[in-house]
Amino acid sequence: MTTFQKYGVLVLLFLIILFLFNLLKFSSAAGNEAEALVRWKASLPSTSVLDSWSLKNVVNLCNWTGITCGRAGIITGINLSGADLNGTLDRFDFRSFPNVTVFDINTNNFDGVIPSAIGNLSKLTYLDLSINAFVNIIPVEIGFLTELRYLSLMDNDLNGPIPYQIGNLQKLRYLDLGSNYLETPDWSKFPSMPFLSYLGLCYNELTLGFPDFIPTCHNLTFLDLSLNHLTGQIPPSLFTNLVNLGYLNLTDNHFQGMLSSNFTNLSELKDLRLGENNFSGPVPDFLGKIPGLVILELFNNLFEGSIPSSLGLLRNLELLDLRTNSLNSTIPSELGLLTNLSFLALDSNSLTGSLPLSFSNLVKLSVLELSNNRFSVGNLTNLQNCKLFSNNLSGRLPSEIGNMIALIVFDVRSNKLSGELP
Ligand SMILES: *[C@@H]1O[C@H](CO)[C@@H](O)[C@H](O)[C@H]1NC(C)=O
Ligand SMILES: *[C@@H]1O[C@H](CO)[C@@H](O)[C@H](O)[C@H]1NC(C)=O
Ligand SMILES: *[C@@H]1O[C@H](CO)[C@@H](O)[C@H](O)[C@H]1NC(C)=O
Ligand SMILES: *[C@@H]1O[C@H](CO)[C@@H](O)[C@H](O)[C@H]1NC(C)=O
Ligand SMILES: *[C@@H]1O[C@H](CO)[C@@H](O)[C@H](O)[C@H]1NC(C)=O
Ligand SMILES: *[C@@H]1O[C@H](CO)[C@@H](O)[C@H](O)[C@H]1NC(C)=O
Ligand SMILES: *[C@@H]1O[C@H](CO)[C@@H](O)[C@H](O)[C@H]1NC(C)=O
Ligand SMILES: *[C@@H]1O[C@H](CO)[C@@H](O)[C@H](O)[C@H]1NC(C)=O
Ligand SMILES: *[C@@H]1O[C@H](CO)[C@@H](O)[C@H](O)[C@H]1NC(C)=O
Ligand SMILES: *[C@@H]1O[C@H](CO)[C@@H](O)[C@H](O)[C@H]1NC(C)=O
Ligand SMILES: *[C@@H]1O[C@H](CO)[C@@H](O)[C@H](O)[C@H]1NC(C)=O
Ligand SMILES: *[C@@H]1O[C@H](CO)[C@@H](O)[C@H](O)[C@H]1NC(C)=O
Repeated sequence: MTTFQKYGVLVLLFLIILFLFNLLKFSSAAGNEAEALVRWKASLPSTSVLDSWSLKNVVNLCNWTGITCGRAGIITGINLSGADLNGTLDRFDFRSFPNVTVFDINTNNFDGVIPSAIGNLSKLTYLDLSINAFVNIIPVEIGFLTELRYLSLMDNDLNGPIPYQIGNLQKLRYLDLGSNYLETPDWSKFPSMPFLSYLGLCYNELTLGFPDFIPTCHNLTFLDLSLNHLTGQIPPSLFTNLVNLGYLNLTDNHFQGMLSSNFTNLSELKDLRLGENNFSGPVPDFLGKIPGLVILELFNNLFEGSIPSSLGLLRNLELLDLRTNSLNSTIPSELGLLTNLSFLALDSNSLTGSLPLSFSNLVKLSVLELSNNRFSVGNLTNLQNCKLFSNNLSGRLPSEIGNMIALIVFDVRSNKLSGELP
């Protein structure tokens, strides 16, 4: 052998050893992962869902229920969503899964706390613990998961203030903490989250004013603060900064004040839900300048005055709910231009006049709520064809119906009417 050949054999040997060593390292890493999963499984009430999770089946680790692997058989995803599992994460050894990017256990019956060791899943981009029964606080260590794009803890029994460390998650696109018992943190400690597009905080115990960090999240398209105890006014910065907003739900809080004409800056808005607050003043006619609106809910507020005819410009509108305010005008005939309308509630106001004849254009209307107003129908003496069937009309028919002397067709089937036909 020449020196050159000897040298070549040595290099080859070295490469073989390196290869075997790596194989050993990877398989031992996989072995650790398998053992950690099996130990956790043993802590759960027995279930057939995880039958594949067995050390006898370790060669198929990457085919275990809910497990996804990356290169070299290292686990990168754990997805047990909707698997009907019970138990806790107490015995889950988060340190054994340094390469996991997806951890999704939504829609199970897990309870107990969210362990602070979850902060060791440092490569996590997707964390979904929603629709379980986790209790106690959100661990501050969640703020170590700085690669997260998606975080949902929605629909658990979490309490305490929202930890400001969530503000460290600067790559978040989607954050849903809704349907818990979370309390108001010091919002001033939250930095802007520049990529955040979806923010759900509904159905919690939030108090005080509008969280002032929200208008700093410029990329928001979806914002749900409904079912909290928030007070004060909508900050003007919302109209300056959140111009991409398509969905805004502030239903069932204690917000007040008049609606600002700056609302029209939210030109992408499709769904505006402001019901069950203390908003006051007129239903502004500039709402007619947000042409994309599909849903407009202003029910249970202190709005007064007239229904603006400009609402007739909202040609995409499918749902208009103005019930339980103090509106005292007639119904503008322009509402008859809203040919996509399927739900119209104007009940519990002080509206006068009668149903505009233009309403015969509302062929998609399936729910029409008009009760508890001051309507009269006596003027419709030329009405020949009156079809109000399959509605949610309730109460008694007004006696003026007897004045519709030209009436040929009168159909009010499938309603919740009571009393006699006048
Ligand atoms: C994975 O497991 C399923 C049954 O659970 C089996 O049908 C399939 O062949 C397995 N695939 C591999 C690559 O082992
Ligand atoms: C988890 O699996 C379910 C189907 O079982 C799937 O719908 C969901 O998208 C998966 N989650 C992730 C993050 O891939
Ligand atoms: C799992 O939890 C659900 C809801 O708490 C309960 O109804 C069910 O009996 C539990 N099942 C087991 C096997 O513990
Ligand atoms: C897994 O993560 C560890 C620690 O971050 C890293 O050293 C290793 O290269 C990763 N392994 C794979 C196969 O990605
Ligand atoms: C991660 O695990 C180590 C032990 O390896 C532990 O000391 C540390 O507290 C854990 N980190 C977090 C954020 O939980
Ligand atoms: C804003 O969010 C959208 C998704 O809604 C995304 O496509 C876009 O890249 C984001 N832009 C920035 C600057 O984060
Ligand atoms: C809303 O838009 C108008 C016209 O583009 C502009 O003058 C006004 O300053 C904007 N309002 C806010 C709060 O940015
Ligand atoms: C938004 O508002 C409606 C009222 O229309 C409420 O019923 C709903 O639960 C809220 N949140 C979501 C996510 O729809
Ligand atoms: C509206 O304001 C009145 C008087 O301040 C108060 O009694 C009521 O609880 C408030 N309602 C809502 C929904 O905030
Ligand atoms: C609209 O926003 C501008 C700029 O922030 C502000 O000066 C003005 O007072 C706002 N208008 C209303 C009606 O709130
Ligand atoms: C309707 O309500 C407005 C505002 O409360 C009031 O100024 C006006 O006088 C009322 N109109 C009628 C006809 O009652
Ligand atoms: C119907 O008649 C009443 C008086 O009888 C009148 O005040 C009201 O303006 C009339 N409505 C319409 C729509 O003509």
